[in-house]
Amino acid sequence: MSESISGFSKLSKSKKIDWIVNTYFSNADEAKRILEQYWHIDEKIQQLHDEFIENTISNYYLPLGVAPNFLINGKLYTIPMAIEESSVVAAASKSAKFWLDRGGFKTKVISTTKIGQVHFMYHGNKKTLESFFSYLKPLLFKDAKPITKNMEQRGGGILDIELRDKTNDIKGYYQLHASFETLNAMGANFINSCLEQFAKTFKSEALIFDAFSEEEKDIQIVMSILSNYVPDCLVRAEVSCKVEDLNEDNTISAEEFASKFIQAVNIAEVEPYRAVTHNKGIMNGIDAVVLATGNDFRAVEAGIHAYASQNGTYSSLTHAKIENGIFTFWMEIPLALGTVGGLTGLHPLVKLALELLYNPSAKELMQIVAVAGLAQNFAAIRSLTTTGIQKGHMKMHLMNILNQFGANDHEKSAIIDYFKTHTVSHSAVVEALKNLRANK
Ligand code: MEV
Repeated sequence: MSESISGFSKLSKSKKIDWIVNTYFSNADEAKRILEQYWHIDEKIQQLHDEFIENTISNYYLPLGVAPNFLINGKLYTIPMAIEESSVVAAASKSAKFWLDRGGFKTKVISTTKIGQVHFMYHGNKKTLESFFSYLKPLLFKDAKPITKNMEQRGGGILDIELRDKTNDIKGYYQLHASFETLNAMGANFINSCLEQFAKTFKSEALIFDAFSEEEKDIQIVMSILSNYVPDCLVRAEVSCKVEDLNEDNTISAEEFASKFIQAVNIAEVEPYRAVTHNKGIMNGIDAVVLATGNDFRAVEAGIHAYASQNGTYSSLTHAKIENGIFTFWMEIPLALGTVGGLTGLHPLVKLALELLYNPSAKELMQIVAVAGLAQNFAAIRSLTTTGIQKGHMKMHLMNILNQFGANDHEKSAIIDYFKTHTVSHSAVVEALKNLRANK
């Protein structure tokens, strides 16, 4: 067992590394070598990464891939994806190509409102609180002006502030429930700064509000924080074509494919065990683009999963139908994204990813991200209802297995060739590699 350490954050980077490698690793030199191997050779870029977080000891690389041929509202995109899982980029690319020949993806931003709340405790008369709030509301806007001025000049700002009574849930619990338009910024800092200012104004005005008794003045602010649940920051993505045009190969008819596809979606709509995996596949696409474009994938995940349970049961994010011979597959999801602020102007690869997407507005990025999710789900359901997921997945996983066994380039190409006509499994790959090496 190691001992605890105080003052770790104040140590220099090399001292931190020394402590880590000497405390936790049997081979300290090897551990140090691995950490250093992932440092960037350009000191400025390394310093940038060091300063993104605290106690940085190395960089954790994820591959950045691209999926070309995405036709979205008539415009062609190559979508950047940062993800470690094999098959995801291939699946996205395959869907993109499939829908490229069938009119592409149609998307629409439905709304862009974000939410923040000041949670507080008040045990006095509700009517007095309501009259205090009527007096307070314009002051909340006024005192937040220094924070909102620039955002307002660009067309955004605080949309509304409501007083919400939550005393049925917790005794004495009320909220200031505020809505915001943050334009191209994800807006977390903007919203949180406004909320903290609301709390200050609230507290100080309460102290001088005559109608409050001394006890009523003692309002306790519990916390002021944005919500990552953004059901009114919604985007829709859709694909559709004639059922007969769904025919791609001759293993299954277009009609049978459409019907199995819709059954699979229906199952995810009613069965939470399936819905979680179904939506996980959607998040493969969404997270990869969210990450590549420097956005907060934890916020996006939390918001989307909450939305998937909005009716009380966790359910599918996507839906599908056939009407008048037309197959339609669609998804509506909440997405709070930014294309300015945060990492977007700092991380060189994020800047590159955004330029690859023609430097989108936040609204455009919402649509691209939603398409990546829908495409991913289409590819997954297509595989699941036809060949099964393992066929494609293991093919993609082949390289991971070969790398795990230190295959050289010659061995890799021989084995990949061999598995063009054989079924991939972990043991089959190990066996084939063994045979190849033995026959040398
Ligand atoms: C794997 O990462 C994602 C899938 O399981 C999604 C799904 O089952 O729909 C293939």
